[in-house]
Amino acid sequence: MLEVDLCGIKLKNPLILASGILGSYSSSLNEIAKTAGAVVTKSVSIEGREGYKNPTVINWKCGLINAVGLASPPAEIFAKELRNFNKSCPLIVSLYGKSPKDFSKLAEIFEIADAFELNLSCPHVKGAGMEIGKDIELSCELVKAMKEITEKPIIAKISAMHDYVKLSKELEKVGLDAVAISNTLPGMKIDIISKKPILSNLTGGVSGPGIKPIALKCVFDLYKALEIPIIGCGGITTFEDVLEFIMAGASAVQIGSAVYYSKGIFCSLKESLEAFLRMNNSRISELVGIAHLR
Ligand SMILES: Cc1cc2nc3c(=O)[nH]c(=O)nc-3n(C[C@H](O)[C@H](O)[C@H](O)COP(=O)(O)O)c2cc1C
Repeated sequence: MLEVDLCGIKLKNPLILASGILGSYSSSLNEIAKTAGAVVTKSVSIEGREGYKNPTVINWKCGLINAVGLASPPAEIFAKELRNFNKSCPLIVSLYGKSPKDFSKLAEIFEIADAFELNLSCPHVKGAGMEIGKDIELSCELVKAMKEITEKPIIAKISAMHDYVKLSKELEKVGLDAVAISNTLPGMKIDIISKKPILSNLTGGVSGPGIKPIALKCVFDLYKALEIPIIGCGGITTFEDVLEFIMAGASAVQIGSAVYYSKGIFCSLKESLEAFLRMNNSRISELVGIAHLR
C-alpha cells in the first residue's frame, strides 16, 4: 500500500529522513531506519567542517532557523562510522563539495550508500550548497562526474530559491535520477534585548511548517516539467502534509524539523497514511500528481 520505487530502489514507504537532522552517527539513524522508507545522512565533504559556534539552531513560531554550517567529520571517518548502520532501509549519503573531482572521490569513499544526494542548496555556507546550485553549468558537471563513477541513483537537492525548474531540467538532461526540493530557505531572527541577530552566523536556513506552502508549489511546478521522480521536502508534520506533497507530484517526501518535535513521527505518519489509503481503497503510488488532473 505504501511501497514506493524510487529510481529502482524499493522503499517500504515514501517517508525519508531528511539530511542533517540526526547528526553524523549511525546510532541515531538506526532507530528511525526501522520505520522510515530511507534515511539521508548529514551532508559530508572530503575534509569535513567544524561548523559555526552556538547558537546554531533556534526555534520560532513556525519552525526552526539553523546555521549549523555543515558540521561533519571528514569523509573517511564518517564512512567508517557508517559501517554501524543497521541497513533496515536504504541509505542515501548526502555529499557536498566544490568540484567534480570532490564528488567523484566522495562516491568512491561511500561504497555503503544505496544512493547519493548532492547538496546543491545549503543556504549558509560560502562556496558550497546553494552557491553551487546557482551555477547551472557546474551543477551539470557534478552530476556528469557522479554518473561516470557510479551506477547508483543520483539525487540533486535543490532550493526554492534557485531557478529550480530551469536547473532541474538541465540536470535531468545530463542523467540526474531524481530531484529533492527544498532545502531550508534563508532567514534570521533578532533578539530585541541584546539588539543583535541570535545565530552566531547572523543568518541561517528556515525550516518547518512556515516553508511548507513554498516547497509544495515547487513540487507542483516541477511535476509539470520533469520526467524524473521528485522528492518533496519542507514543513511536513502531519499525514495530510505528506498527501499534499504526493498529490502535487512527489514520489516520496523527506521529513526534517518534525523529528525535533516528535521522535515517533515516522511511525505515526505511516499509521495515519495506511488508514487513509485503506479508507480510500488506494495505493500511495496511485496518488502521485493526482492534483494535476482537471
Ligand atoms: C539542524 C538542521 C541541519 C540540517 N542539515 C542539513 C544538511 O547537512 N544537508 C542538507 O542537505 N540539508 C540539511 N538540512 C535541511 C533539511 O534536510 C531539510 O531540507 C529542511 O530542514 C526542510 O525540511 P523540514 O521543514 O522538514 O525540516 C538541515 C536542517 C536542519 C533543521
